[in-house]
Amino acid sequence: MNKIDNIYKEILVSEEELDERLEELAKDIMKSYEGEKEELVVIGILRGAVIFMTNLITKLDMELTIDFMAVSSYGSSSVSSGVVRILKDLEEEIAGKNILIVEDIIDTGLTLSYLTDNLRKRGAKSVKIATLLDKPDRRKVDVNVDFVGFRIPDEFVVGYGLDYNQKYRNLPFVAALKEEVYS
Ligand code: IMP
Ligand code: MG
Repeated sequence: MNKIDNIYKEILVSEEELDERLEELAKDIMKSYEGEKEELVVIGILRGAVIFMTNLITKLDMELTIDFMAVSSYGSSSVSSGVVRILKDLEEEIAGKNILIVEDIIDTGLTLSYLTDNLRKRGAKSVKIATLLDKPDRRKVDVNVDFVGFRIPDEFVVGYGLDYNQKYRNLPFVAALKEEVYS
């Protein structure tokens, strides 16, 4: 099997930075649900959010359940219709519950804007968003993001769950992909 070699130009977020920031995010999240009586369901968006979600929830000292959704944009990824197709839906009912969506990255914001609407319509008591990364320069629709790990420049990144053509998710840090890999 090939090693992951020579595909990234720069590490943008190191393993140590990730671990430290997740500790802080977990504290912020716990504080924001303090005194809350209704159940919390943490919903991971497959597949990119898996590593972030796993490491984040092990730092949350509170009762919660987890569930997953998989979504994809309709048509090519460059289409900006904002219509999102649900490839895998939740297994739990969420009416009356508090929802924390966990996502790998917000780029245009279309995916999360669709998802928050969709989950609100199912009668969730509250819908909050935690994203590991945010590329604010590329935003097309406003999304109210409650917890952001890192704001990053407009670079295509891989690692810590994020992929290029389904690969490189297993890098333990976040790195900017070399242009020659995707051009
Ligand atoms: P958007 O906010 O609807 O544009 O889409 C966000 C989704 O696009 C994320 O969940 C990722 O799957 C994907 N994405 C956006 N930027 C990157 C990147 O730099 N690396 C890997 N995936 C990305
Ligand atoms: Mg994704």
